[in-house]
Amino acid sequence: MTTFEHNHLAGKVALITGAAHRVGAMIARLLHAQGMNLVLHYRHSGEAARQLQAELHALRAASVTLVQADLLDTAHLPRLVDAALGAWQRLDVLVNNASSFYPTPVGSVTEAQWDDLTGSNLKAPFFLTQAAAPSLAQQHGCVVNIVDIHADRPLKSHPVYCVAKAGLVMLTKALARELGPQVRVNAVAPGAVMWPEHTLDVAARDYIISRTALKREGAAHDIAQAVLFLIRDAGYISGHVLTVDGGRSLSN
Ligand SMILES: NC(=O)c1ccc[n+]([C@@H]2O[C@H](COP(=O)([O-])OP(=O)(O)OC[C@H]3O[C@@H](n4cnc5c(N)ncnc54)[C@H](OP(=O)(O)O)[C@@H]3O)[C@@H](O)[C@H]2O)c1
Repeated sequence: MTTFEHNHLAGKVALITGAAHRVGAMIARLLHAQGMNLVLHYRHSGEAARQLQAELHALRAASVTLVQADLLDTAHLPRLVDAALGAWQRLDVLVNNASSFYPTPVGSVTEAQWDDLTGSNLKAPFFLTQAAAPSLAQQHGCVVNIVDIHADRPLKSHPVYCVAKAGLVMLTKALARELGPQVRVNAVAPGAVMWPEHTLDVAARDYIISRTALKREGAAHDIAQAVLFLIRDAGYISGHVLTVDGGRSLSN
């Protein structure tokens, strides 16, 4: 049996949005392995979320609570915080990971797409952080926002997504000022870590890798490790965006 005696994350509670799959699920596994209890949020992926909960409960019973919500439904965001308080009477960490991502070439963008992309990537992280802030302050906790290297360098045909992530970078800095000294707020900016499931041909992948200093794509684990660093080892870091892109941002 693993012991967490010397680990100051053991018994603390993290809320992770969009946690059923991919990067969010990997963040969940890594934080759980540190002894944290988790509130895993999902929207449509109930089956995957329940599987992940079962996987983690096989390692440690009663350590994961699930909560379903569409993050565009702002009025219900405090429910996610309540899930942590209801289960464990505390919240130490919020990871704003959930995100919608698809092309919106100028000329065909709808208001619904704007609302969806800015809603999931910017508005929801703000209102969820606002709802969580009193509990996080009580625990001297922290927020980690998952942004994107394309918050700085626009990704072709994705202007609305890029604007939303750029907003989330500024939100990270602004909330670091607003919520200090009790709460630290940081961000991780992934490069290409897991390709979108529905797009991107082989030539496009090869091009991105050829422009990446480390000549390979990253993995969800690379992002999760950066999140863990900001939560566990970065007590004097707030308002920072940690780029995890294998050096992709260094070239055009
Ligand atoms: N993958 C990459 O290479 C990459 C690169 C740069 C940045 N990032 C950032 O890293 C994070 C994780 O990336 P990923 O590729 O793992 O994400 P993803 O699979 O595209 O999306 C994560 C989850 O977000 C949830 N979501 C989307 N819209 C939502 C809404 N309105 N309400 C509630 N949940 C919603 C979905 O939950 P359900 O499935 O439950 O509906 C989805 O599973 C994201 O913030 C992304 O922008 C990723």
